[in-house]
Amino acid sequence: MKRVGILGLGEYLPQRILGNAELEKMVDTTDEWITSRTGIKERHLVSKLEAASDLAIKAAQEALKDAKIKAEDLELIIVATITPDMQFPATACFLQAGLNAKKAVCFDISAACSGFIYGLDIARQFIAQGSYKNALVVGTEVMSSVTDWQDRGTCVLFGDGAGAAVLGEVKLGGILSTYLGSDGTKADLIKCPGGGSRFPASSDTIKERLHYLKMEGNEVFKLAVNIMANAASEAVKAAGLTLADIDLVVPHQANMRIIMALGKKLNLPEKKIYLNIERCGNMSSASVATALCEAVKEGRVKKNDIILLDSFGAGLVWGAAIIKW
Ligand code: COA
Repeated sequence: MKRVGILGLGEYLPQRILGNAELEKMVDTTDEWITSRTGIKERHLVSKLEAASDLAIKAAQEALKDAKIKAEDLELIIVATITPDMQFPATACFLQAGLNAKKAVCFDISAACSGFIYGLDIARQFIAQGSYKNALVVGTEVMSSVTDWQDRGTCVLFGDGAGAAVLGEVKLGGILSTYLGSDGTKADLIKCPGGGSRFPASSDTIKERLHYLKMEGNEVFKLAVNIMANAASEAVKAAGLTLADIDLVVPHQANMRIIMALGKKLNLPEKKIYLNIERCGNMSSASVATALCEAVKEGRVKKNDIILLDSFGAGLVWGAAIIKW
């Protein structure tokens, strides 16, 4: 089996920024409530002209440049998204066309906020086995397209963005372990019910606002910390390391209180946790991807550092990965 690592990273955040003060004018909320309950101050939102693949193209171009790999040499493209351009074809195919990556095999995966880590694990296995030499994995979300702007319980939480990684064979380090898990019995906790084969789009589904994200925030909150802590412990164990070996945690950015409780549970100080939640909110599959990209750009990651990626989301699905940089 070949050793697989990240060769390049990229991100794209749309230009428009929606701050808490503007949200105060849209729903019955306050900057104080949002900041103290979630840690979010602002989030990026797409323009009318941008869909998930448009964000993905920009993030992917940056990652390819960083990896010094040409789009035409890409062999696999995996897009993790729960807000695809369309029901079909795959957003990965729109991305392929946008990059002119003619050789690549393309498909999407739906693993919500854990999509980027699921994508990394899938790509890693294809490369490790020798099926493909390289892969592009992108987490891209237009969460604003499924956000109910009348629901103060959810509309303050989410944002739009994309993060990308190019994977290939490495001589040393790379992805040391992954740990994935799912629990479909809790599928009702976070969902977007309308527009699929269960409730095809109709005037009734629109009237009932079924095309928007629904979430039992409190229930999710209670589960998140334990699920992420367990995933982290399992991934660390699988890598033959201990939690004390971790230099930086890049967690899913759903809620500052969840992240801080996770740090406490894992006995990891705040300075070892990378955060972009304050500026970006929850971007589902794009959260871990953009946070990792920013951490590297900001010099928070040094050669040989041990990085923990850790996430959970709708499904429920969770995942963790240990990467030696
Ligand atoms: N502004 C002001 N008040 C709000 C509000 C808002 N934006 N949203 C909810 N409230 C109110 C509620 O109506 C409730 O009022 P009540 O006590 O009069 O009924 C009160 O605040 C407390 O609501 P609650 O839902 O218990 O708050 P919370 O502390 O659990 O915070 C979340 C809500 C959504 C921030 C929190 O539950 C959370 O982050 N959950 C996890 C979500 C998550 O991670 N989702 C993504 C998974 S990938």
